[in-house]
Amino acid sequence: MPRHLIDITDLSVAEIDSLIATAEDIFDHPDKYQSVCACRQLATLFFEPSTRTRLSFESAMLALGGQVLGFSSADCSSTAKGETVTDTVHTVSCYADIIAMRHPKEGAPFAAAQVSEVPIINAGDGGHNHPTQTLTDLLTIHRERGKLHGFTIGFCGDLKFGRTVHSLVNALSRYPDIRYVFISPTELKLPRYVKEHSLKNRNIPYEQTEELSEVMPELDILYMTRVQKERFFNEEEYLRLKDSYILTPAKLCGAKPDLSILHPLPRVNEISATVDRDPRAVYWKQVRYGKYIRMALIMFLLGLTP
Ligand code: NCD
Repeated sequence: MPRHLIDITDLSVAEIDSLIATAEDIFDHPDKYQSVCACRQLATLFFEPSTRTRLSFESAMLALGGQVLGFSSADCSSTAKGETVTDTVHTVSCYADIIAMRHPKEGAPFAAAQVSEVPIINAGDGGHNHPTQTLTDLLTIHRERGKLHGFTIGFCGDLKFGRTVHSLVNALSRYPDIRYVFISPTELKLPRYVKEHSLKNRNIPYEQTEELSEVMPELDILYMTRVQKERFFNEEEYLRLKDSYILTPAKLCGAKPDLSILHPLPRVNEISATVDRDPRAVYWKQVRYGKYIRMALIMFLLGLTP
């Protein structure tokens, strides 16, 4: 049975820590890893738009000496003819050694894993989970703060549909001494199932508010997110909520001098481009780290070492 990554909790804390250590080693010694995946193929099956996730997977596999195949939209695959996702994955698992897939339906990568003979990586399933973005976020936090415990992290924006938020909360809740502040409009609060599963069961402290400025001074990490237009049923509601939070240099006045500002990207309007010049903005470093952690993950799931 191949090992899959569908949910971040498919990895133990020790495995996550080891992936981070490998990613940091790749960062320092890329040459050591340049042919680890020679003669191996990664398929990227993206049934939903993507820039960073798909290209970082492809770039990761190429940097490991492997090859890539796949599609970047459902329209140019047999999905357009009515093929089921499990049949598509069954087919591709005959051609590739490992598959990264993104799908608008929650649970699609889980279903794919039931029929695949090769590892399946969930590259985002609807408004549910996004475990490889979480690995990217954890690597970023580790490089910026030197640890994955003992801080207050604020999540701001669309906490209801933001799959990166759900997966990161699930991951960080297994590390000690984390405090959460959830900042969102009432309509976009963190889903109850995430709170019950990750926070209440473990007695982890959290606060919910609509006001970013009130809680800004408490935060060690601020994780900004985009309002997820594609998950709304009602365009009017999206238009009403889309600009709920816009981070500007003025709004950072009360923030800690060593705050780290993360964002999985793409941003739409929620972080002004002028914030990019602030040394506390680390989202462009986060983009870069996404490649290294995916290199570590591909090697781990294929059981390969340099
Ligand atoms: C995120 C996603 O697809 O969930 N982006 C990403 O993978 N870097 C966040 C988003 O789309 O808002």
